[in-house]
Amino acid sequence: MDSEQGGSDGCPFSQLRADIPLASQYIYLNSCTFGPVLQSVQRCMAEALREENEEIIAIRVKEAGVRFYERAEKARQSVADLLGVSAANVAWVYNTTTASRLAIMSVDWHAGDKLAVTDVEHLSTHRAARGLAQGRGVEVTVIPTAEPLEGTYRGPTYFLEQLDKMLTTSHRLLVISHVSNIDGRRLPVMEATRLARSRGVKTLVDGAQSVGMFGVNAKEIGAEFFSGSVHKWLMGPPGIGFLVVSDEGKKDYNPFSLPLPTRAGGRPDGSLMAAGALNELGTQNYALRIGAGACLKAVQRIGLNKIEEQCRSLTERLRAGLLSVPGIRVASTAMWEHSSSVTTVQLQDGTPERCLQLVERLLEEYRIVVKYRPEICGVRIGVAAFNTAAEIEQLLTALGHLAPQV
Ligand SMILES: Cc1ncc(COP(=O)(O)O)c(C=O)c1O
Repeated sequence: MDSEQGGSDGCPFSQLRADIPLASQYIYLNSCTFGPVLQSVQRCMAEALREENEEIIAIRVKEAGVRFYERAEKARQSVADLLGVSAANVAWVYNTTTASRLAIMSVDWHAGDKLAVTDVEHLSTHRAARGLAQGRGVEVTVIPTAEPLEGTYRGPTYFLEQLDKMLTTSHRLLVISHVSNIDGRRLPVMEATRLARSRGVKTLVDGAQSVGMFGVNAKEIGAEFFSGSVHKWLMGPPGIGFLVVSDEGKKDYNPFSLPLPTRAGGRPDGSLMAAGALNELGTQNYALRIGAGACLKAVQRIGLNKIEEQCRSLTERLRAGLLSVPGIRVASTAMWEHSSSVTTVQLQDGTPERCLQLVERLLEEYRIVVKYRPEICGVRIGVAAFNTAAEIEQLLTALGHLAPQV
């Protein structure tokens, strides 16, 4: 694939699609779980593994090893550029769950301390909160993001009011998703971080569902921690994610109790270690990092503004079409600035069994891949930049046939 050209029709999204063989076999609407790994990225990683094994490890050519390491470091710079931060603030981690957990566990929790999480966090965050409550006696405050009876997110006002009421100086950390994995609501992370900071509370922003779907500037958001992975909207390999630790966050961040740089006399010299140096111990998988760098390059080449525009236009088409599908209710808000390309639909009088049947029949009869969301008994549709308007129409037709039957 010529990376500098568009597809045969000159459209960057056709080129992207041509790099995803899966897209010709399925209508793939589940990038919220796994994005397809670009074929060019797979090739790049296979070549990196071969090179590392045959040219570097086997014959121990030092210069080649240095060049290889530098390539992996370039990938860290790409993450930093994507998120508007410095490479010294970026640590590689396996995935968002581990990145978030490292940030959460960097707080020296004591019984009676408080942790705040929103009511639409990923299961992994709720598990961490439950574990802290059981193991350390931490009190967990769940901040509602929408009025209980309405359910549908109507923008940030209600949530910020609740946060203002419920977040206290006894809280040590606020965990907030940038985009919820349940219905795609986009939360006001910058305002929430500012409010938390005014009370001396640190913030961890979970960026698993935002990075790669639209431009994200972690520096502007201002949180001490920002976690994410590359295997969803960035179309990179699984097993690699990142934790951005701000300079402020780094002051107390040392998850593996490393000795800090010292001055004469052996006392810490006050300089901050790079987030990577604090996190990445022992032998690392450089091929994964090089793969992450390659998918970031592909995304940056198209540009996140264009990607967001494409996702938005397809999502608006989908949501408009869903209004005329009998028996289906759209649970996600229609306001783009408060939502994303994740749309969750519910069936009228829906049960988990009916939703699961719908997901199964969409796959079996139409080769459409979507996912059941148990939290709101819905079916989640994740529209990515490689999807097409024709695919949206096929989904709408399929839903029109199946919704009354399941
Ligand atoms: C908001 C959110 N946070 C965290 C995760 C967990 O991500 P990972 O699989 O990278 O650990 C997900 C995955 O779906 C998610 O949607």
